[in-house]
Amino acid sequence: MAQLIDGKLISAQVLQEVAAEVELIGAEHGIKPTLAVVLVGEDPASQVYVSNKVKRAIEAGMGSIEHRLDADTTQAALNELIDALNNDPEVHGILVQLPLPSHLDEDAVISAIHPAKDVDGFHPLNVGALASGRPSLVPCTPQGCMIMLRQVHPDLSGKHAVVVGRSNIVGKPMAALLLQANCTVTIVHSRTQHIESLCRQADILVAAIGRPEFINADWVKPGATVIDVGINARDVDGKRKLVGDVAFESVAQVAGAITPVPGGVGPMTIACLLLNTTRAARLQLT
Ligand code: GUN
Repeated sequence: MAQLIDGKLISAQVLQEVAAEVELIGAEHGIKPTLAVVLVGEDPASQVYVSNKVKRAIEAGMGSIEHRLDADTTQAALNELIDALNNDPEVHGILVQLPLPSHLDEDAVISAIHPAKDVDGFHPLNVGALASGRPSLVPCTPQGCMIMLRQVHPDLSGKHAVVVGRSNIVGKPMAALLLQANCTVTIVHSRTQHIESLCRQADILVAAIGRPEFINADWVKPGATVIDVGINARDVDGKRKLVGDVAFESVAQVAGAITPVPGGVGPMTIACLLLNTTRAARLQLT
């Protein structure tokens, strides 16, 4: 049975460090690192994510501002809000929850956020900085995955990491971080040929495809470390259950270490968001 990588426990440690940093920034500079979260529309999953982000920010001693906008909000109105948050000296981090309703242009919204307040690390300037090895604000989910990986592999150098999925939010920045940590990196996706045999070569397998229990034990090299980024709702015996992109029960028999869902990557993402907010606050001081 694989070692369980406990995201709840590790995220609690990160949050403790964040709370200490919030206090230090307050004592040194008289400011309270503050996160503004913007949610457009009523997507139920997004509502849960946003509530959790706000709750954890307050627990860490941060300021937290929530903007909930109607599903039919115009691009102009959203841009106006982002402008106001960019120019508000009491706001240090801005997060616009994705996905946005289809009439809104996500790329335009991401580009409108000031790069120093871009706690998601999605702005083209921050994406470019990460790709060229000069990261400032790094996307939260891949950052959380790296912290968990380091618990198992303090030195990742020379490991073969396979990232399943190529999204801008997870797959691409994850690959960049693994490369920076001197891994040999393969990205596989829906059009990849021989995907199963490529996955089976991985020392480190990161699943970020958004398909429930897609990866089973046959895809995993014995002893590999498996990071499951997926959060999918599935009906099991008539009950709604959260499952990852990995078939946990069977893969845990083969893997050396594995993250559970829930209690794995999810809490790490939030902890890293708050970590980024303290970093953003520091960036704005200089
Ligand atoms: N939706 C799913 N994951 C994320 C994330 O990391 N940031 C934002 N803004 N929206 C998301």
